[in-house]
Amino acid sequence: MKNIIKKVGVIGAGTMGAGIAGQVANAGIEVILLDLPSENGDVNSLSRKGLDRIKNDDMPGLVSEHAESLISIGNIRDDLDKLADCDWVAEAIVERLNLKHQLYRDLIDCCDPETIITSNTSTIPIALLTEGMPESFCQRFAITHFFNPVRYMRLLELVSGEKTSKEVIDRLHNFSEMKLGKGVILCKDRPGFLANRVGVFAIQCALNIAFEMGLSPWEADAVFGRPLGFPKTGVFGLYDLIGIDLMVDVAQSLVNILPPSDPFHQYSRTNDFVANMITNGQTGNKNSKGFYRDQGNLTEALNFDTGEYVSYSRIKSDLLESSESYGPRKLLEDGGEYGQFAWRVLSEVLCYAASIIPDVTSNPADIDDAMKLGYNWTKGPFEILDDIGHQYFVDRLKDEGRDVPEFLVNNKGDRFYVASKRELKVLQYGGSYEKIMHSAGVLRFSEIRKTLKPQNTNEVASWYQYDGAALVEFHSKANTLDGGSLDILSDALEQAESVGLRGVIVHNDSQHFSCGVSLWSVRECFESEDYHKLDCFLKHFQDTMSMMRNSALPVLSAPVGMSIGGGFEVVLHTDRVIANTNSVMGLVESGVGLVPGGGGCKEVLYRWNNLLEDPRVAAWNAFMNIGLGRLARSPYEAEKMAFVTPSDSFHINRDHLLGSALSALGDVKKTPQRGTLKLTGKSHYEEMKLWLSKNLDKGFLTPHNQTVGIEIARIVTGGDCLEGTLATEQDLFDAERKSFLRLAKSPQTQARIVGMLDEGKTIRN
Ligand code: NAI
Repeated sequence: MKNIIKKVGVIGAGTMGAGIAGQVANAGIEVILLDLPSENGDVNSLSRKGLDRIKNDDMPGLVSEHAESLISIGNIRDDLDKLADCDWVAEAIVERLNLKHQLYRDLIDCCDPETIITSNTSTIPIALLTEGMPESFCQRFAITHFFNPVRYMRLLELVSGEKTSKEVIDRLHNFSEMKLGKGVILCKDRPGFLANRVGVFAIQCALNIAFEMGLSPWEADAVFGRPLGFPKTGVFGLYDLIGIDLMVDVAQSLVNILPPSDPFHQYSRTNDFVANMITNGQTGNKNSKGFYRDQGNLTEALNFDTGEYVSYSRIKSDLLESSESYGPRKLLEDGGEYGQFAWRVLSEVLCYAASIIPDVTSNPADIDDAMKLGYNWTKGPFEILDDIGHQYFVDRLKDEGRDVPEFLVNNKGDRFYVASKRELKVLQYGGSYEKIMHSAGVLRFSEIRKTLKPQNTNEVASWYQYDGAALVEFHSKANTLDGGSLDILSDALEQAESVGLRGVIVHNDSQHFSCGVSLWSVRECFESEDYHKLDCFLKHFQDTMSMMRNSALPVLSAPVGMSIGGGFEVVLHTDRVIANTNSVMGLVESGVGLVPGGGGCKEVLYRWNNLLEDPRVAAWNAFMNIGLGRLARSPYEAEKMAFVTPSDSFHINRDHLLGSALSALGDVKKTPQRGTLKLTGKSHYEEMKLWLSKNLDKGFLTPHNQTVGIEIARIVTGGDCLEGTLATEQDLFDAERKSFLRLAKSPQTQARIVGMLDEGKTIRN
């Protein structure tokens, strides 16, 4: 059996196949993507469409142009022979057993006898997929179940058949973790495997109970979202995202394969309202209307009584807010409609998750991981049970006369996760606690923090000492930054130096590293007209950024998800960035009518000046990147925007970031102090202003875009100064602060911030 996977074939260039091909190419591996031949015109039009989809999507499936160049396309009539030298062929065609069988027979003929073959099936048991196939095929066949979108969803469920060789599973496991960056869970061949089994149950349960209780889509989603640790799409938003017709099919396919006693059947039904929606073409985002529809700057949602779309306001509730920040126990205990909905849904979901132990797995951590990596839940079911209290949960079920799943009865009220001697253990079916084990290189901060006591902590950030380093974690909502975050960061910098640690690493294991400065803090200042407070905050921010730069110790950042606005300014001031390849970076302040005020303009300007001979081109690039709020959707794109430097490194598996950062501490060179910089001055400033006014006239910019653009132009050119005037780092910091404050005082910026906070909308004024 060949050890290394150097070339991959993917068959079926639909949603999943194209995504898988994209991720293989992102790993730097050659891939051939085949679909059916088209009769008219371009014979490869289906595979070409698949490739276009991952190139052009809002969430691109490719990290770089180089990755794109590694994909070649074709069709299964003319190009099957090109699979002969593939080490792995992944099948991702439609979910039809007879078609899959036919394809496998063709693959047996054309592939090397050692080629690994896998299916991406969601619902067909491996026993059926391999039925009637030769022994030698069964030995090299497995299910590799990826999640959509493949580049971003971390979970890969790997299912072995009775005859699959261990070597094949080991190779797929290793390749998927090390090269494709996935969190692999070895699953038994059970209906829906792990994540969909619990995830689809949760969605169907929430939908049915919301209808039964008469909740509107926006009310149900306000509860079954962030307050319970689920993605903010909620249930109806998720239905729209997946496609209402597809979701109904997914539920039906589970109905077909689950035993009649399974509690899923209670919630699997499609009600008349949803069936009518499908008939009317209201199938979700792909058809621009589902439970929600976008009407320009306004989102409307269906009123279930009238069947009409109505406008609605975001639900504001202290109870939901506090549930998001402090856990759902208070919400679950509340007798109001939201509390009742939360309890009914969550209790059903937690019971269901417990009920599949031990049949599907005997390890609850597998279920927790599957839900976090495959469904983006903040916590898995058993972590939620630890949060709300296992005994409280069981007692309440008993009070309500409900059955308690065996796994919960057997647990006599202990926590599912316990930390002892710096090890995290989880309670198994059978009663023993087992250490949580991972493959080499995997180190999850979310797990190790459970075994540590913070050195300093407040509501929004903490820092820990681990392996001789200070680990700084932001943990506010969306990890937005306020004075508290900066207090912890500066304390970690000071203490790390004074107690002789090896360095400081800023990292967290949330979905996003940091979505910038808390706009609530900015709003509080302008609503109380306390601009002095705002200025002090900016000064605190800038001083902390300087501290990072001037610390004698290496300071690293290991960002995941979004690092935008102030969050990215933190990244910009670290000595080395160890980024996940799915990191999104950028200075997006202009969108809310502000400029980067924590050294973002300064850093981008310095970086362009270091790269380019011509200071005018450097200033122009900085002006454009910041003014248009450009986002780099991978670190490779960030490289082209001077957002990262050649000494920074990128990892496809986000679970490898922290380990790499800890290992890198020893060889990081401190970024040299910034010297003076030649400003391009008045004539360049005027040129930028002219560009802004032309684009205003053409209707590409709004009047307030122009105002913000002028402020950015003033910072990066020096404004009315003479060309060649020298600026220090502090001059640029000061210029940013002045512009930030001027803009924060303007009613247009304030309207943008209020719109963003209250309605989640970008106001174009
Ligand atoms: P899709 O309908 O988007 O794409 C299927 C593609 O296969 C189409 O382009 C079609 O032309 C092509 N095709 C059909 N028969 C073929 C054949 N004999 N040879 C070559 N190409 C053929 O389907 P999707 O959603 O990508 O699903 C593919 C597989 O992945 C299915 O088994 C599905 O259950 C599974 N899956 C789907 C997920 C999703 O979110 N869509 C998630 C995880 C698994």
